[in-house]
Amino acid sequence: DMPMLEQCYNLLDFEAVARRVMKKTAWAYYSSAADDEITLRENHAAYHRIWFRPRILVDVEKVDFSTTMLGTNVDMPFYVTATALGKLGHIEGEVVLTRAAAKHNVIQMIPTLASCSFDEIVDAASGDQVQWLQLYVNKDRAITEKIVRHAEARGCKGLFITVDAPQLGRREKDMRSKFTDPGSNIQSGQTTDTSQGAARAISSFIDPGLSWSDIPWFKSITKMPIVLKGVQRVEDVVKAIEAGVQGVVLSNHGGRQLDFARSAIEVLAETMPVLRELGLEGRIEIFVDGGVRRATDIIKALCLGATGVGIGRPFLYAMSAYGFDGVDRAMQLLRDEMEMNMRLIGATTVADLNPAMVDVRSLYNH
Ligand code: FNR
Repeated sequence: DMPMLEQCYNLLDFEAVARRVMKKTAWAYYSSAADDEITLRENHAAYHRIWFRPRILVDVEKVDFSTTMLGTNVDMPFYVTATALGKLGHIEGEVVLTRAAAKHNVIQMIPTLASCSFDEIVDAASGDQVQWLQLYVNKDRAITEKIVRHAEARGCKGLFITVDAPQLGRREKDMRSKFTDPGSNIQSGQTTDTSQGAARAISSFIDPGLSWSDIPWFKSITKMPIVLKGVQRVEDVVKAIEAGVQGVVLSNHGGRQLDFARSAIEVLAETMPVLRELGLEGRIEIFVDGGVRRATDIIKALCLGATGVGIGRPFLYAMSAYGFDGVDRAMQLLRDEMEMNMRLIGATTVADLNPAMVDVRSLYNH
């Protein structure tokens, strides 16, 4: 007695369905987060502490929430972030997300640890569809260089280097469930120990020695814009600007790495005033991810200065429960929510969104 797709009225509804219908191991891998999952809970909760200051009597008959991310025009200010092991949730894996992203003209970030091969995901893209690569950096830099050059050659428009995972966090729900690889394509060149859950089984190649001194090398091997994914403090945003990268993702990896990492939206609220003060505003594109479930969450992030937001689990849950139609509907629901909420706060374009439209006083007092 699975609910009909039409009974999913928002992104959170997909999670409830997925929990019921997904295989236990898959649910454990997708839903789990580090340790006590305090950061996981905080990611969404932090948005609940930001309130709107809507403008009235603005002509909002026409609203347009298209925007630009790393030079690409997109229809909506979110992208599908990288999440590993798509075939745990759906037999076709990540290409399901590719097709939905194409339909809604939003960008997909391809994970290093996808279940489908990188080429399968690129081949699944339609004509001018834009994709980015999420990179886990291998201890063997020759492997990493090959992956990066291949991605650029295949037309990827952004290199997102994950910087919050020198070691994978302990996701105990995942560790408790017995992981068997669903015929995935992962070729890390390592033997995998599956006794510690899915995450640990696939991640032993990641280089914990990665540091700021590696950034010039990345710039030397690619012309793709480079974005650091997993920045958690304004000091590191400033360093990223100094290092000459084009973007950062304020992110705690969906609460899956350091428990008690702050929410990205709180880090964003800390970051923008400092950049303004230092005259660095506009020098770098700032994305946020983690806990984005509603268009109001997206709008809050844009008001506070984000270029766009990444969304992870909701699309995985929609895909696992209903395949393409689920992800399609999830994106359509966001589109409908965006239109209504832009109208209700009195904004007709994303350029209208600014810090004066939100009240963040209770963000810190809770
Ligand atoms: C992730 N995330 C992630 N990030 C990354 O850089 N490389 C990866 O391989 C993965 N894999 C992954 C798997 C699963 C199942 C999840 C839920 C997440 C983190 C992801 O890109 C993003 O930071 C969070 O998912 C955002 O939070 P929400 O939207 O899931 O709340």
